[in-house]
Amino acid sequence: MVPNIHELVVEAPDVAAAIKPGQFVILRPSETGERVPLSTSDFDREAGTITCFFQVVGESTAKLALLEPGDTIPTFAGPLGLESEIENFGTVVLVGGCFGIGSIYPIARALKEAGNEAHVILEARSKYLHYWVDRHEAIADSVTLITRDGTLGTKGHVSRIPDILNKLKIKPDRVIANGCTFQMKRVSDITKPLGILTIVSMNPIMIDGTGMCGVCRLTVDGETKFACVDGPDFNGHLIDWEEFLQRRKTYYEEEIEPLRRSGTGTTVHVCRNC
Ligand SMILES: Cc1cc2nc3c(=O)[nH]c(=O)nc-3n(C[C@H](O)[C@H](O)[C@H](O)COP(=O)(O)OP(=O)(O)OC[C@H]3O[C@@H](n4cnc5c(N)ncnc54)[C@H](O)[C@@H]3O)c2cc1C
Ligand code: FES
Repeated sequence: MVPNIHELVVEAPDVAAAIKPGQFVILRPSETGERVPLSTSDFDREAGTITCFFQVVGESTAKLALLEPGDTIPTFAGPLGLESEIENFGTVVLVGGCFGIGSIYPIARALKEAGNEAHVILEARSKYLHYWVDRHEAIADSVTLITRDGTLGTKGHVSRIPDILNKLKIKPDRVIANGCTFQMKRVSDITKPLGILTIVSMNPIMIDGTGMCGVCRLTVDGETKFACVDGPDFNGHLIDWEEFLQRRKTYYEEEIEPLRRSGTGTTVHVCRNC
């Protein structure tokens, strides 16, 4: 779609028939491959397809990027996790970055359909990393683009959110953020002193995705939660972010080595925030 972010459209009619905004799937790119959780960016119940966006960060996503249109993947499980809360909250601001530019889209659409005023803020490092802007514009009350280098829209990063809210003259009843962990943490840090409820979609390391292994645990308001069955959406102001970031790094060295050996020939540029 843009450098290092790939669009994956999978024909999986049973999953497409049941999936709701905010839920995710777990797939394997090959028979012996690891399980890769991906958020849903769109679904077409008639065509029986699910759309996801993925960033190449390690061996499994590199393998996934090498698939050709028409290829088959051995497993594609879903819907997993709880759907996002969709009600008429009033005014909602939706913030997306990296793959979250895609995954925030069905949530924005559902909130708009539920009668909310939906304002979308999309963040990327540069102009060429933005995608699906037209799709967001087609459903949202406003779309604001942020680029860190100022090549498109507002210059900076999500710390510009208070300025953007002032410019739009809105006081959101809730903020929802999807994408890289640091970006969601930053959004939560910004909205906490403003007293705006902020929901984030957490992406810890997962194995089964059904509440059995405990690998995806995180602490929310002092309680242990499993992101795969209690989430992935949580109140960003109540998450123990330090612990979460530490747990994400657990297998860093082990993950880098197979990628070096794999010879996939794929260049990996992990998001600077991650
Ligand atoms: C519920 C959920 C939804 C997700 N949705 C998406 C999505 O829509 N698009 C997308 O690109 N990614 C998404 N992710 C992250 C994605 O699952 C991982 O990036 C992927 O599993 C990494 O696999 P890999 O083998 O390529 O990398 P690995 O070899 O496993 O890891 C390579 C590097 O990536 C880091 N890493 C490992 N797991 C994650 C993770 N969960 N998130 C971020 N970095 C990680 C490791 O620390 C390591 O440095 C989601 C994760 C969860 C739990
Ligand atoms: S991934 Fe195993 S319990 Fe959540």
